[in-house]
Amino acid sequence: MNMLTGKTALVTGASSGIGEAMARELAARGANLVLAARRRDRLEALAREIDTEYQSRVAVHVVVIDLAAPGAARRLFDETEGVGQRIDILINNAGTGYNDLFLNIPWERTAQQMQLNMVALTELSYLFGQCMRRRNEGYILNVSSIGAYAPCPYFATYAAGKAYVRNFSEALSAELADTGVRVCCLCPGVTETEFHLNANQELPPAVKWVTMSARRCARIGLDALLSGRRNVISGYLNSLAMFLLRFVPTRLSTALYGFVMGRLVRRLPGPGPTL
Ligand SMILES: NC(=O)c1ccc[n+]([C@@H]2O[C@H](COP(=O)([O-])OP(=O)(O)OC[C@H]3O[C@@H](n4cnc5c(N)ncnc54)[C@H](OP(=O)(O)O)[C@@H]3O)[C@@H](O)[C@H]2O)c1
Repeated sequence: MNMLTGKTALVTGASSGIGEAMARELAARGANLVLAARRRDRLEALAREIDTEYQSRVAVHVVVIDLAAPGAARRLFDETEGVGQRIDILINNAGTGYNDLFLNIPWERTAQQMQLNMVALTELSYLFGQCMRRRNEGYILNVSSIGAYAPCPYFATYAAGKAYVRNFSEALSAELADTGVRVCCLCPGVTETEFHLNANQELPPAVKWVTMSARRCARIGLDALLSGRRNVISGYLNSLAMFLLRFVPTRLSTALYGFVMGRLVRRLPGPGPTL
């Protein structure tokens, strides 16, 4: 019997990338799944695939939802725990970003990103966290980024939001330390997903050397969560870089991040990066 047999995991952003890989990995470990995102076709195709692969030993339920819409987190809760579907593992993975100067990005896009990356994640942690605390059992994995470790020009609100996720998760983990609920923050480095295309980023070929597969990243996150770690950075190189960053003055790390992120912007109006 697998470790997670009989448990149910809710994965947000399960229609692609790290979330999809998390769902596959959780199914391989025996967990039933609730898959949430906006693209119904992707979610249903994944559900069918998992159902076939595990010959119906894993139950998969799909919820089509836009988590950037106000009130969506509550609706997701009402459609799961609210109708008696116990969620043992919450994977707060859904997230987007947009690489450009802050003042060039339409406000609506930034507002939706903050609602999704921070508000929905926090409200889901609150709603499902209360049920888990009552049962004295459960796991929450919040997906942040290595962008959480320094101010990040050209990705200003995204990185600041991920710093929020990191600090929030560490604090929640400490608050729940004497209960049976474990909270972990996963900080991925560059990972091979659709994220970059949607984020207006063009990764130069050299980045391939430090790019991790979504599958490996998901495994690292789940292993850390299930072993009770509070925080994990994906990969040794990323971990080393984030460790060294502690000794770099903020002004310098901001300039470094800005130098890199400014060169990843796919289309910048005007003559090009100016920062
Ligand atoms: N890839 C990287 O290099 C990298 C690095 C650091 C951190 N991360 C973080 O990893 C997480 C997963 O991203 P990814 O790399 O796997 O990118 P991805 O392939 O683009 O996946 C993003 C997921 O979020 C979902 N999503 C986006 N907007 C949503 C909304 N409004 N409501 C509900 N779901 C929504 C998408 O599904 P729908 O479009 O179907 O809704 C998709 O399933 C994000 O939090 C991201 O910030 C990624």
